[in-house]
This record gives sequence, C-alpha cells and structure tokens, in this order.
Amino acid sequence: MNLVHVIGGRGGLMFTRAKIADAPAVSFYFEGELMSGREGDTIAAALLLADEPVLRNSFVSHSPRAPFCMIGNCFECAVEVDGIDGVQACLTPLREGMRINRSPTQPIKAKTA
Ligand code: FES
Repeated sequence: MNLVHVIGGRGGLMFTRAKIADAPAVSFYFEGELMSGREGDTIAAALLLADEPVLRNSFVSHSPRAPFCMIGNCFECAVEVDGIDGVQACLTPLREGMRINRSPTQPIKAKTA
C-alpha cells in the first residue's frame, strides 16, 4: 500500500508518495470529477495527493474535516463510495471507476486547501 508522507505544510498541505510512484494509474470520480490515483493508493491518499483534503464536515460545528490519523481510528475521512456512506477513506483501497463523494450526512460549508 502506498503511504502519504507530509513533507512540508507551512501555509498549505504538501504530500508525496512514499513509494510505488510509478504504479499503474487508477481512474476514479470525486464529486463527479474524473481523477487519477495509483494502484496501491487508499482513497484518502489519492484525494490528499489530488489536493482534495476536505471529505466531510463536523457534526457539531460544521467545520471542514480532513483525514487525520490515516490508520482507521478517527473517522475524519468518512466518505460515500458507490452510494455507501461512512466508508473510511484511509483504509479503503482505490479501485478503478469508484464514484466517491464527500459524506452526505453533513453539509459541506467550505473547501479549504
Ligand atoms: S483518517 Fe482517521 S479513520 Fe481515516
């Protein structure tokens, strides 16, 4: 599985693939937009590398939420995949043709970068 490492971040998010950067491309849709990740990426890794960190909003404050732990503990990465809500993006391998949306259980107020 490819890992995403933070290599910087002052003033913004910066990620890179730890390995397998030349793995075959995998096409998927996020919010209806055709995107490309790599074989071995999780959904969260592919979206972070595509500069799409906001996957849902907080239940309480409605503030934008992004993947945090990347190991399945925090549920900040919950998305809708092929019509199924609550899928943990950090644990779910990217597959060809997946249709991924921000979690519809909370409205998204704003996108941050
Ligand atoms: S990022 Fe924490 S559960 Fe996915």
